Amino acid sequence: MIKKYHSKEGSSLLKYLSFSTNKTKNINGSFFTYSREAISQIMIHTNITETDKILMPSYQCNTVIDYILPFTKNIEFYEINEDLTLSSNEIINKINHHTKIIFFVHYFGIITNIKPSLIEILREKNIKIIYDLAHSFLSLYQRNFTLDTYSDYIISSIYKNIPLGVGAIGIGDFQQKNSIDVKEFFIINLKKILTNFRCLIGKRAFTYYHLHAKSSLQENTIIYKNSTLSYYAYQFLLAHINIKKLIEDKTTVTHQYFTLFENNKEFSNLIGKDILENNVLQAYPIKCVNIKSREKIFHYLKSHCIDIYSWPSYHPINSFDTLKDTILLLPLDFYSFQKSKEFLIKSNHE
Ligand SMILES: Cc1ncc(COP(=O)(O)O)c(C=O)c1O
Repeated sequence: MIKKYHSKEGSSLLKYLSFSTNKTKNINGSFFTYSREAISQIMIHTNITETDKILMPSYQCNTVIDYILPFTKNIEFYEINEDLTLSSNEIINKINHHTKIIFFVHYFGIITNIKPSLIEILREKNIKIIYDLAHSFLSLYQRNFTLDTYSDYIISSIYKNIPLGVGAIGIGDFQQKNSIDVKEFFIINLKKILTNFRCLIGKRAFTYYHLHAKSSLQENTIIYKNSTLSYYAYQFLLAHINIKKLIEDKTTVTHQYFTLFENNKEFSNLIGKDILENNVLQAYPIKCVNIKSREKIFHYLKSHCIDIYSWPSYHPINSFDTLKDTILLLPLDFYSFQKSKEFLIKSNHE
């Protein structure tokens, strides 16, 4: 039977599914509908209770916070710098004997540089390390699902990087499930399957129609044996998307954006070229000089149907982050790039 888990408050949000895979090369992967389900599962496996403290960056998604609150309200935030780096010292100073879990977020496809010495300290203190790569599936894929520094869990939302409706992966000691309740599987996954199927046949808006050529998961270091329908469903879907081409296109547009914003004073590049070279971005982050400038570019691009967005949404327990007021994310496709270029030319003439 698939197990259902509920929070102490009995929130039905916490019902989740994951599907077992065999351990190979010490990597244990599970599929989820969304990364938030993997977060709930980690909270359950690590027996988080209300006295336990969770450390996480202040530049953080409201969904993550919402999925932790049913377990503990003891969340402490650490600062993220303007270039998306973090301070090891600040984190070390915030650790106490209640600290059980730390989240590191790898923003917008960029793998955050985390000092091995910090990881060592965290491990000595038996703090579980979660790498949140919800935005960074393609950078993870490019690294064969193995990062340089240790983590207990990696979570990543496949659908945020690949033209699919839903889908996420968790790496780490997630619970193995060896049988499924077929009826429940179909009811819960029908929406997932339909949404993704609509993507594949081009009925859902996404820009990568030409990516339906061959690709596969075969080069992955994760090998899923004896796994369930879920794996085969994802394999089928991913096999119909040319991930290499997707990466190629995103990389090309990333470089075009970099050049476009290189000498602009009002809208500047958030990330240096060397970091961009080594990562596959989810969207292109720019820093606007103030909120007014951000509104200007936002409205221009929105009026051209471009899915430009700011991040993250406000959460009442995390109201002190300043990055969210100036960063804007531009979609990595050629049309969005052209329209951004048009906007800059137009605003130069004004
Ligand atoms: C950093 C981060 N982690 C986790 C999540 C949750 O991802 P998902 O939508 O796959 O549950 C999000 C977005 O909602 C996010 O921005």
